[in-house]
Formats: sequence, C-alpha cells, structure tokens
Amino acid sequence: MIRRMKLGPSALILEPWALSKRRPPPATPNWSPYVGARVEDHKPLTGRTIRRMRRRNAVLNDLALTAVGITPKDHVLEIGYGPGEALAEASKMAKNGFAAGIDRSMEMLQIAWKRTQKAKAKNVSVLRGDVSWLPWSQCSFDKMFCVDGVTEWPCTRSGLEEAFRVLKPGGVLILAEYITPKFTKAKALALAHLLTVVGFQDLEVHIAPNRRTEVLVLKAVRS
Ligand SMILES: C[S@@+](CC[C@H](N)C(=O)[O-])C[C@H]1O[C@@H](n2cnc3c(N)ncnc32)[C@H](O)[C@@H]1O
Repeated sequence: MIRRMKLGPSALILEPWALSKRRPPPATPNWSPYVGARVEDHKPLTGRTIRRMRRRNAVLNDLALTAVGITPKDHVLEIGYGPGEALAEASKMAKNGFAAGIDRSMEMLQIAWKRTQKAKAKNVSVLRGDVSWLPWSQCSFDKMFCVDGVTEWPCTRSGLEEAFRVLKPGGVLILAEYITPKFTKAKALALAHLLTVVGFQDLEVHIAPNRRTEVLVLKAVRS
C-alpha cells in the first residue's frame, strides 16, 4: 500500500541537500534552489557556438575518454558535459554500469537530454548543477572526467574537493584542457599541484601538441 504523506515546506525532497546531512550554502542572488548550485548569468549560446564547441572539443573528448579507461561495469561522472557527446560515448562504454553528467547550463541540459533520448541510452542521467555542490553521496563513482571546463569553475579547489568526495578510493579523475594564453602551462602545473593538495595521488601530466596549440591531459587517482 502506498501511504501518502503530507509534505510540509521543510520537506522539499527535490533539493539535493535534503538527501545529505550537509547544509546548503547561504542564498546568494545567483543561487538556484532547484539545482542546488550557483547559476552564472551568461548570454544564451547560439547553435553556431554549440557546433563550434563540438568540433573544437572532439579531439580533447577522445583523449579524455581514452585516458579515463572506462570499463563496462564502471559508474562514471562527467562534469560540464556541454552538448553531451562524450557523456553519450561514456554511457556506451559503461554498458553494464552507469554514466551521469552535471552541467550548470540549462541549454546544455536540454541538448544533452535530447541526445541521450535519441541514443535510447537507459544507463545515463543528465543533471543541472554546479561542480562545487555535487548531489551524490561520497564514493559514488569509479571514474570522472571534465573536458574544457575546469577553467570555468567558480572555485577550482571546492570543485576538486567535491570530485574527491564522490570518487571511490582508487577512482580516476581526468581533466583535459587546451593550453591557451589564459590557461598557460604554469597554470596547468598549479592545477596539478592543487590536485595533490586536495588529496589526489599518482598524478600524470601529459602536454601534447595539437594543431596550433597544445593540449593538457591530467590524470589523478583518489587516495
Ligand atoms: C567549454 S564547455 C565544454 C563542454 C564539453 N565538455 C565539451 O567538451 O564539448 C564547458 C562546459 O562546462 C560547464 N560548466 C562550467 N562551469 C561549470 C560548473 N561550475 N559546474 C558545472 N558545469 C560547469 C559549462 O556550462 C559548459 O557546458
């Protein structure tokens, strides 16, 4: 028998923190109670921008998927899935496991949702939210990756701490980025150092030439 319970205003079970013992951060103007995350204001992306992002990041997505080494039973998380190309691929690779993605953009959520529906993938879920507040309990994932996204995180350290929390011990994190005048090699090395500060170990830093620029693939293992 299904018992209907009266839910008062304090029982908003859709909010991610309702499932955890942690309290939500204080409300700020760009805090969204629905996604449990900070939502940055940004201009709506045009179809052209999204197509360009897909083309531009195809190589980086391939590198990240190869480096993360997904096996069929893995539970995988992608942070900042964008149009959802790599997430759809990850769900195929983890065919007996699960692939989840979180992105702060509502537009990306809609695009990636359509993509997963089209692919009839049942082992994938897309969420809207921020890396600084991941709505999963600790040790939920075996593998995690983020492609061309870490430079956009509002706070790199809290994002990495969350990644550490939701990864299982021995779980693998891949961060793939382009080396640019803004994200220089020095910053890439600072990011690698921050990973060790947060508690990751067995760091591998690969910087390889790619067309007119260079790409960074950072691999770290959760201790
Ligand atoms: C440049 S796009 C790359 C998208 C995708 N990974 C790809 O390679 O095509 C960066 C993505 O990260 C997302 N993002 C940026 N900051 C984020 C944050 N703090 N939490 C979650 N997603 C974030 C953006 O919404 C955007 O979709």
